[in-house]
Amino acid sequence: MIEITHLTKRFGDLTAVDDLSISIEAGEIFGFIGPNGAGKSTTMKVLACLLKPDSGSAKVDDLSVRAQGDAIRQRIGYMPDFIGYYDDLTVDEYLQFFAAAFRLPRKKRRSIVSGVLELTDLTAKRDTMVSSLSRGMSQRLGVARVLIHDPKVLLLDEPASGLDPRARIEMRSLLTELARMGKTLMVSSHILSELAEMCSSIGIIEQGRLIFAGSIDDAYARVKGAERILIRLEPADNIAQIVASVVSALDADERVESATPVDGKAGVIDVELKDAEPGRHFLLERVIAGGGRIASFEPQSVNLEDAFLRLTKGAIQ
Ligand SMILES: Nc1ncnc2c1ncn2[C@@H]1O[C@H](COP(=O)(O)OP(=O)(O)OP(=O)(O)O)[C@@H](O)[C@H]1O
Ligand SMILES: [Mg+2]
Repeated sequence: MIEITHLTKRFGDLTAVDDLSISIEAGEIFGFIGPNGAGKSTTMKVLACLLKPDSGSAKVDDLSVRAQGDAIRQRIGYMPDFIGYYDDLTVDEYLQFFAAAFRLPRKKRRSIVSGVLELTDLTAKRDTMVSSLSRGMSQRLGVARVLIHDPKVLLLDEPASGLDPRARIEMRSLLTELARMGKTLMVSSHILSELAEMCSSIGIIEQGRLIFAGSIDDAYARVKGAERILIRLEPADNIAQIVASVVSALDADERVESATPVDGKAGVIDVELKDAEPGRHFLLERVIAGGGRIASFEPQSVNLEDAFLRLTKGAIQ
């Protein structure tokens, strides 16, 4: 349903999107993840036909953003990261305004607006001024607006930003419901855990480049490799010296990403492995080689958020 092929978009000297290729099947909820400035909004604006690509191509429902913008606009609902609201309107008037802008038949507008209000749980707020909605409600109104013309594809730029945990859960169930109705969703966020539960696939982007694409399970499998283990050594008089020599023995092993003494805890070393395979027995050998005696071995659970930070370590444009 969405096919991005070798897409590049520059702003002057800055390459905001760099040779990006992404494919999203119909009915998917695709989580588009990346730190600030990664190029998420830029990519979505290209898909929404608001920015022209410098090179490469982007297609929505087999239509090209370069040549068939008008047809694409009928098929997509784009919710920007910042929604300029029309503050002197009520919720109902606001949605009626967009129904008119999309040239929906006048007779049908009332029932369409009622339908989207119902779906986004805003019926009770229909006569409230847009300016007095809470953050969560205005985000939902943003979703209501993009549903007015019943598009096949929704491009939602950070719909959950600034929401409290409960509003986030409500947003997730709304988006899941939309996917169940057969819509294809591309949802951006810089927080992976915000999306993990509802996405059927994710793409992680950094400095305009795709660094991971696949299912959440694939993402877990990928980051599982980078395992962390806390090694506790038996107490000894010269523990600082032993820790130093164990750390250098571990550091010398190519299977070890890093070995660091834990501050304030005598004899505890935090070890990060490059790969969980082929087992950890070699750690024992290294500790012995460094003159240490192991008291305990504590694998640290893999937190997807940490793992994500590791995948995108450093580089923020
Ligand atoms: N209109 C513009 N003119 C010049 N540079 C721009 C423009 N829009 C975006 N950029 C730059 O392109 C890069 C990508 O920006 P983009 O808004 O796509 O990132 P993002 O992933 O959406 O980030 P965020 O999480 O902060 O929303 C940034 O370095 C940004 O400064
Ligand atoms: Mg953005």
